[in-house]
Amino acid sequence: MNAERGKTRFQIDLRRYLREQSIDRDLIRLICEISDASKYIINSIRTGDLGVAGTSNLYGEKQLALDVLSDRIIQKRLKFSGVVANIVSEETPEIISVSEPSNRRYSVLFDPLDGSSLVDVNLAVGTIVSIYEGESVLQAGRNQVAALYILYGPRTTMVLSFGSGVHEFAMNQLMDYDLVTENLTMAGPARVYSPGGMRSRYSSGTEKFIQYIENTGAKLRYSGGFVPDINQVLIKRGGLFMYPHLTDSPQGKLRTLFELNPMAYLIEQAGGAASTGRQPILDVVPQAIDDRAPIFIGSKAEVAMAEKFIAEHG
Ligand code: AHG
Ligand code: MN
Ligand code: MN
Repeated sequence: MNAERGKTRFQIDLRRYLREQSIDRDLIRLICEISDASKYIINSIRTGDLGVAGTSNLYGEKQLALDVLSDRIIQKRLKFSGVVANIVSEETPEIISVSEPSNRRYSVLFDPLDGSSLVDVNLAVGTIVSIYEGESVLQAGRNQVAALYILYGPRTTMVLSFGSGVHEFAMNQLMDYDLVTENLTMAGPARVYSPGGMRSRYSSGTEKFIQYIENTGAKLRYSGGFVPDINQVLIKRGGLFMYPHLTDSPQGKLRTLFELNPMAYLIEQAGGAASTGRQPILDVVPQAIDDRAPIFIGSKAEVAMAEKFIAEHG
């Protein structure tokens, strides 16, 4: 079905859409569990406690009550799905091996509430999920079998790929997801750019690259939320997001397993590219669950230009 964006003639919901594709039943189960979890997360975001939880995550960052709650909601669903082997969350310091009855078919890595510090200022936030077949959680992002994000903005949308294109769904009044657009593609040049990190700490290659982007006439659009910023690049069918290596943090800020790999998978599936500046994100073999890397992601031509400037100027 090729629905024109926002103008689907008849609604097809997520579960039915997945059943019509030739994908594994257990993977459908898993994706539906995550979509169910998001109903509870969106409710907590709308009305929940904005305070700190008094605990820290694996990066030593203070956890908000919402981070902890979102993490719990997803973990619970995954543990009882019957199909998950290992779980790794940005908010939990270790790999969790599922002890509940399970065929251990998939392992799931996720950021339960990316951008949680934006909730108090009422900006958009999201959940990011990466799925592998089998038990290993430390492997190249290229091996993902599915990835998705859920964006909690004025509307709640889910962008999903299971290896054959990228599809967008929107939450309806019954809190189920309906297909909005099948096969989102990024054909055009970057119309928007989202530069993360302090500019005074950019390397000279990144500084030259950003000057190049500014001269293309692309518009600056940075919200500080990775999910909405990436969603804009994708839905506008062209753009460039970066969180580069900085003079005081050579690996940038964003986390390879929970943030970069799933987004790189989705953007590549849409015809875009994602690079550390030196190699495709999806080819990086992580050494530890808390690995970080710089990222330049979006329209292919602009990502290639970033690589060129970085190769020449660092
Ligand atoms: P998290 O809330 O999971 O810690 O991640 C926040 C991330 C991401 O959403 C965004 O792209 C980036 O941090 C923004 O960082 P700056 O505040 O340095 O711009
Ligand atoms: Mn995050
Ligand atoms: Mn987070």
